[in-house]
Amino acid sequence: MTLTSTKVAIAFSDGVEHELTVEPGQTVLDAAVAAELPILYQCRSGSCSSCIATLVEGEAETRPGASSTLLAAERAEGKRLLCVTEPRGDCRFELGYDSAAGTAKPVDAQAFVNAVEKVAADVVRLELELADGYWMDFRPGQFVQVAVPGTDEVRSYSMASTPADLPKVELLIRILPGGVMSDWLVNRAKPDDVVKLSGPYGAFFLREKVKAPHIMIAGGTGLAPMMSMIDSIRATSGRKPKVILSFGCQSEDGLFHRDAIDLRQLWLPTLDVRISVDRGPAPDGVRVGNPVEVIGNGETIDPDSVAYLCGPPGMLAAARQHLEALGLSPDNIFAEQFTASGA
Ligand code: FES
Repeated sequence: MTLTSTKVAIAFSDGVEHELTVEPGQTVLDAAVAAELPILYQCRSGSCSSCIATLVEGEAETRPGASSTLLAAERAEGKRLLCVTEPRGDCRFELGYDSAAGTAKPVDAQAFVNAVEKVAADVVRLELELADGYWMDFRPGQFVQVAVPGTDEVRSYSMASTPADLPKVELLIRILPGGVMSDWLVNRAKPDDVVKLSGPYGAFFLREKVKAPHIMIAGGTGLAPMMSMIDSIRATSGRKPKVILSFGCQSEDGLFHRDAIDLRQLWLPTLDVRISVDRGPAPDGVRVGNPVEVIGNGETIDPDSVAYLCGPPGMLAAARQHLEALGLSPDNIFAEQFTASGA
């Protein structure tokens, strides 16, 4: 902790820049929120990654005793979670999103359950419909927090649907043994149940670089934000970018949404899908292996590609390393990590 205030510059991707005064003991996010900057954040405790930024000048470290879900490779590239970061002198951060992204403030909403459908051995598709009078503007890839009915617990899930699908909201939820959300979904959830949610949250969303080739790597229910992004790309006007979707599950009985993916390939001919299972047997059209290694294997990858990764930490670290070795800039790799609180 510094004993004097520091000057911290915050630069958005559209060129908008602000200078903050950060007082001793304050985090960069505390100062940014006090100054009403349109910064994305949610947990304020280093666990959701929404407040991720890149330190490009000066020094700033995680405050003592705070935890952070950043991968070692991300830290080495200058990434910081602003909610647990204290400056060590004047410094400058760049954000991977424009100054309009944080202006749509999260809202509380109520929704009704439309459908609860088991789509794989351990995955449920939950379709909600916002109640009259509620709305939630979001960007494809962002997440909501859902209150588990009958408990004080909340859980975070990326939307698989798009803003154009509102008031319908679709979530893909992994069933975990002993999980409170899992218990509700498997044993009690039924159509017309009322669910409270809040959002949108998160800095993981489709960027403006929509004409660049896209690489999407998803593990398990990490497919959800990719479905939202793919459907949004399909709906944009003009020439569609090449999109590689590499989707991996642990085993055949964990695979889901293959028909939905096939449909996207018909709708979006530039979509190139690779599906993997970690261990065999594998059904037709599915390979055994991980979803990272199939990228750039016997093909040339455009180094200007934009990559979106969603899954467990190990997969994200491997994918980031692999994509950087293929020539992608760290600035064009966006990731959303599953955290252990999903139980
Ligand atoms: S708001 Fe900083 S990690 Fe969640």
